[in-house]
Amino acid sequence: MTESPNGQTAETSLGRPAPDESFHPASGAGGTAASGGPRVAVIGGDGIGPEVLAEALKCVAAAGVHLQTTDYDLGADHYLATGEVLPDETLERLRGEDAILLGAVGPPIGSTAVPSGLLERGLLLRLRFELDLYVNLRPFTGPPGSIAPGADFAVVRENTEGPYAGEGGALRRGTPYEVATQGSVNTRHGVERCVRFAFALAEGRTRRQVTLVHKTNVLTFAGDLWARTFADVAGEYPDVETGYQHVDAACIYLVERADRYGVIVTDNLFGDILTDLAGALTGGIGLAASANLNPARTGPSLFEPVHGAAHDIAGTGAANPLAAIRSAAMMLDHLGERDAAERVEKAVLSLQADTDYWKEPWSTAKVGDAVAGRL
Ligand code: IPM
Ligand code: MN
Repeated sequence: MTESPNGQTAETSLGRPAPDESFHPASGAGGTAASGGPRVAVIGGDGIGPEVLAEALKCVAAAGVHLQTTDYDLGADHYLATGEVLPDETLERLRGEDAILLGAVGPPIGSTAVPSGLLERGLLLRLRFELDLYVNLRPFTGPPGSIAPGADFAVVRENTEGPYAGEGGALRRGTPYEVATQGSVNTRHGVERCVRFAFALAEGRTRRQVTLVHKTNVLTFAGDLWARTFADVAGEYPDVETGYQHVDAACIYLVERADRYGVIVTDNLFGDILTDLAGALTGGIGLAASANLNPARTGPSLFEPVHGAAHDIAGTGAANPLAAIRSAAMMLDHLGERDAAERVEKAVLSLQADTDYWKEPWSTAKVGDAVAGRL
């Protein structure tokens, strides 16, 4: 792990957590402007991760925000070199940061050097669970030329429960009598805090609307808990319009009428799938940003592009840094740098509107420079 205090910033209004707007250092003392800006852990990771984060940090600096960054060496390459996935001691250090910015982690597709699921469960999901990042917020805006131009919605994905919780196991593995179960864990507490976040978010948006997406007709136990919780919380938000769709139908409506959505709230696995679809509809996964939020601010939140490590284009300059730049903007917003966050997001939107950077794609650095140049 290397220390590299430098300092830079960015901004945006996307995905503003509604309940608590002000910046509170996660770790208590220090870390604010007085001592050099928020402390941010930078996990570049694998493949294109470090390249896209470099552009994100460039834009943060151009927006005039100073960060105290620390680089953390984690991911597939680090695992292959050291055998470490996420040492306890590293996790404890991360708890003391104000935010975490992550590029991408994972081995090349098809590589068997890293066992499937090891980094997902041991690093990314462990961070989500251990840091109680219970909301995965993924905003989508459809730029001109995308399948859903004009779409403007956010998915609030429950991020610590559901089928991701790891409930289940295998018996008699490798025999004809093998049994594998993988349960879905849904708690009233976990569902309610996620649904509450979605309503609070919707209340602050121009279009005050929340759709619950589930599969209540088949997943009757979990669906019942989600539907009742949604109805209970909706009662406290008379100004927010509500809707419900089964997840399969939501896939059709998202493709045909993405503009009907304001906020979608959904379970962990449905949210994973729907947000890849939403990314493809709104200009591609290269634009999709995400915030893994601990809205209670008992520790740092984690910001990362939705895309993966894309080893096939690493080092070629072909990676689109906009998802990372937008994720950094969400981080700035969470850290209380609302004005800077908004300017970064506006710079990205104006680049999309005024240029055809995507037709003959500009290089990673050219896109980053262009956004930074608009700040
Ligand atoms: C995502 C990713 C992760 C997920 C994987 C890498 C564990 O697909 O952030 O959407 O399934 O949540
Ligand atoms: Mn995913």
